[in-house]
Amino acid sequence: MADWTDCLNFGISIAKQASEVGVMATNENAVKLKSSPADLVTETDQRVEKILISAIRNRYPQHRFIGEESVAAGEHLELTDSPTWIIDPIDGTVNFVHRFPFVAISIAFTVNRQTQFGIVYSCVEDKLFYAQRGGGAFLNGEPLHASGQQGDITRVTSHMCYITHDIMSRDDVALSTMTSNIRRLLQFPVHGVRALGTAAVDMCQVATGGADAYYHIGMHCWDIAASAIIVQEAGGVVMDTDGSEFDMMSRRVIAASSAAVADRIAQVIQAFPCCRDDED
Ligand code: IPD
Repeated sequence: MADWTDCLNFGISIAKQASEVGVMATNENAVKLKSSPADLVTETDQRVEKILISAIRNRYPQHRFIGEESVAAGEHLELTDSPTWIIDPIDGTVNFVHRFPFVAISIAFTVNRQTQFGIVYSCVEDKLFYAQRGGGAFLNGEPLHASGQQGDITRVTSHMCYITHDIMSRDDVALSTMTSNIRRLLQFPVHGVRALGTAAVDMCQVATGGADAYYHIGMHCWDIAASAIIVQEAGGVVMDTDGSEFDMMSRRVIAASSAAVADRIAQVIQAFPCCRDDED
């Protein structure tokens, strides 16, 4: 089996460099809207993506890329069997613009369409989450473990702290589905509900055991590809919101401390329609 540790180490070093010279070095006020008032892009997003892609391309000229801003600029999104880097240069652009202190660089690497490693660098917190297939998950070098809540479903949900996603889409069906999902989940006596505004860092909270579950509908593959393997390698579970196998292109995900918690959430929440990432 191929060993992708060199690529992982290179990804970690360029994520840290791009944070230093791009994300942390800039006070951004040139903002453009994409699909909704909550879907923003800044020159820094574009610049950081260019820094990352050109450094990786220099070192690994045969590798392919799926980058949030390249796709927004019209590049075709296709996941092939070739080694592919899936990049979100700033996950949490709204936070970045408002200086709300959770912004991350998210990098996943796939071969034969299977994720080999994931890196989420939470720039302001200086927290580096990463995981390599079969090698465990780490935060700043320390092993990560999901909370592992198991057993009786009523007990599980009554102790749960879960993380939800931002309300990005503003159309009626999406809005009413998202708000009724939260209402339905709050009928369990859960301890708390949080949302940090970056899907990558939100989902990594499940890997740390700080949250027992996270779900999101409508995000893109670059938001969650890296954190999905981090959750799995920390002993957590990822699945589609309809209970089927996780598919990073489906734009639906549940990440949870155990299959029991993930199944329970899948039974309760509903999805609104959105095009797959790999559909034109
Ligand atoms: C967004 C963030 C946000 C999530 C959105 C994403 P971006 O990513 O992850 O938390 O709710 O769905 O699009 O646009 O800041 O890279």
